[in-house]
Amino acid sequence: MEASKPAFEKYVFVCINERPDGERVSCGSTFCGKEISERLKEAVKTAGQAGRIRVSKSKCLDVCEEGPNVLIYPDNLWLKHVNLADIPAILEKLGIKP
Ligand code: FES
Repeated sequence: MEASKPAFEKYVFVCINERPDGERVSCGSTFCGKEISERLKEAVKTAGQAGRIRVSKSKCLDVCEEGPNVLIYPDNLWLKHVNLADIPAILEKLGIKP
């Protein structure tokens, strides 16, 4: 094992987990986690910040009922009940002016 500093300044984990109908709600099926992930990734890229901020798709974070869920590290920030209209505010938290 080797230890080093992270490759990116910030990591944004967006839950896109999907579940079949009738099971527990999920960010990717019940809510719009997949669209949030795609839009955030594109916005970070468009802002020229893809080398500084990594937007990663996540599986279940076990807070499904609060979804869609977004975690920002190393800020240790959990954003819950996120919707597409929140994307500019998330970008601001990442230091990107929308
Ligand atoms: S499905 Fe997103 S937190 Fe569980």
